[in-house]
Amino acid sequence: MRVSSPIFFALSFVLLIVNADYQPPLNRRSLSQRDGHSHHAHKGAPLLVLNETEVTMHHAPTPPSYYTIDWEEEGYQSRYPGLMIFHGIFMSLAFFVALPIGIALRSVNHAAHYMATLAFYGCCALGCFASGLYRKVTPNMYEGAVHSKQGYVVILAAVSLSALDIFTTIRRIIDFCRGPDKSFKSFWRYVVKKEVRLEAGPEYSGIVTEEPEEYEFNRESVELQEVCLNNASEQRTEQWANAVHHHRRHYSLASEGTLLGSSPRHSQDTFQNAKARRILAHSGRLRQLAKGTFAVLERALVMAGFAQLLLGIVTYSGGCRSNYQNGCLAHLIKGGIFWCYGLLTFARFLGSFADLGWAWNLSPSGNFYTAEFTESFVIFLYGLTNTWMERFGAKAGDPFTTKQIQHISIAVMFCFAGLVGMGIESKRIRNWLASSTFASSTHAEDMPREAVVEPLSYMGSFNPFPALVIGVTGAAMAAHAQTYLFQVQIHALWGNLLVAFGVLRCLTYFFLWLGPPRSILPSRPPTEALGSFFLACGGLVFMFSTEEVTIAAMRRGRDDVMMFLNVAVALTCFAFCWTLFVVGFKGWVKSRTQVAVTYRNAA
Ligand SMILES: *[C@@H]1O[C@H](CO)[C@@H](O)[C@H](O)[C@H]1NC(C)=O
Repeated sequence: MRVSSPIFFALSFVLLIVNADYQPPLNRRSLSQRDGHSHHAHKGAPLLVLNETEVTMHHAPTPPSYYTIDWEEEGYQSRYPGLMIFHGIFMSLAFFVALPIGIALRSVNHAAHYMATLAFYGCCALGCFASGLYRKVTPNMYEGAVHSKQGYVVILAAVSLSALDIFTTIRRIIDFCRGPDKSFKSFWRYVVKKEVRLEAGPEYSGIVTEEPEEYEFNRESVELQEVCLNNASEQRTEQWANAVHHHRRHYSLASEGTLLGSSPRHSQDTFQNAKARRILAHSGRLRQLAKGTFAVLERALVMAGFAQLLLGIVTYSGGCRSNYQNGCLAHLIKGGIFWCYGLLTFARFLGSFADLGWAWNLSPSGNFYTAEFTESFVIFLYGLTNTWMERFGAKAGDPFTTKQIQHISIAVMFCFAGLVGMGIESKRIRNWLASSTFASSTHAEDMPREAVVEPLSYMGSFNPFPALVIGVTGAAMAAHAQTYLFQVQIHALWGNLLVAFGVLRCLTYFFLWLGPPRSILPSRPPTEALGSFFLACGGLVFMFSTEEVTIAAMRRGRDDVMMFLNVAVALTCFAFCWTLFVVGFKGWVKSRTQVAVTYRNAA
């Protein structure tokens, strides 16, 4: 019964929000009409059928595109849709299959990552060949398209990362040739798998070879202690905060033990040696930073591939030209961000970033920025930049339109809610906030011991501000005025999907607040699986709600909300499958090459 009452509460909360938010689109329209705003200063109820005269009043007529000559125009001579399909398939294989597999293999220094890199370039070459051929045999249907130019920039970035990789390999080959051990086994381990370090020179010998192993060992022992302590604390049902306090003390003792004479050999070492160690530690940190930057850039390539995919679809379908461009950019960029954010959140649910404590688990390494801090920071940054962007098109002294005020105030909300979110993630600020407890004449020593230990809820980050921001954005966009009823419905659809994410994220915190994570293993809150689904799906429908797409759908009699929703849901499920494959593959490779985490069943 203890569990069922919060569930009951939560469900009534959801029902309340869903009901409160629901309004027939027509009513919503008549509400927004009163403040005199509409997309094209169009007054009256949203139109049911497309009025071509009305469309051409605001936009240039849509010229034919690669899509129309390939599929729609009857009797057109040079149609080669096959080449374009080939291009799409091979570029997708390169960026969404070979590249993630390569990243996963590289993360464990698996020798097969060279194969994945070769497959990536092979697919890229085939894909580019097909598109080159296509452009030779079809007329140019899109003046000033940037898809191919930008594509070469992305591939150039990939090539420079590979060049960096080749450079380190060459350096390792040179090191290897200088080293004493010239066996094939050593070559494989040092050059191909980039595993062990060779002895660098006489003055550092004995340190260089020992350092990494010792470090690994120590780290492992700390992690082991952590797991043991977790279990011990569970068994003794001791306050969690206490256990962590103990654990921290053990941690510092353990690290002191290594630094100061863990073995008699080291205690005899001279000042020179300590200095060498410090330099080594420093270069180790630099190497770590370089490795991290490389990893981030490599993952950014997947995102760049996604941007290229969108741009390719735009170019092929001939959209986003002349004065459609701004709205198009806004929808595709923001929708794309929500889509990627949803997939990333699902990856976190699956256990990605558990090493940083971002999978709703205890951070095994401590003191990293929390996921909530990162989310709030991105939200803050987005608000900061977008506050000014809305007026880019306006001259100084132009009156603020209703639409501008709507969008600017959303950006201002992002900015300040992001700041609040960052603030309450700061441990220092949280300590300041807690200090008001002792402002009066309270004496901590008079209190019973349980009353002064940290509450269980201090263990996790319970920060509803990112969810609040996205939920409110969704609710606002669900009420966005549009010229056509179909556009209103599509906006309401993705707005409500974002609201659903906000509600479900709050439920995650609700349940985790009752039972904070006590393990370093990912805790997989089911509300997050649902929430990330709604977020990604909302982002996709956001992209579908681009004015030109909705007009094209109405022109072809495809203005059906359920069809749009189902297509978005199907694509989201496909992308979730892909995410599961990527995260699962990485875990599989890792569990095969490294000592796996031993699960302990709770007694
Ligand atoms: C289409 O829009 C134009 C311009 O707003 C208007 O004059 C015309 O009456 C509309 N046609 C229909 C069928 O509503």
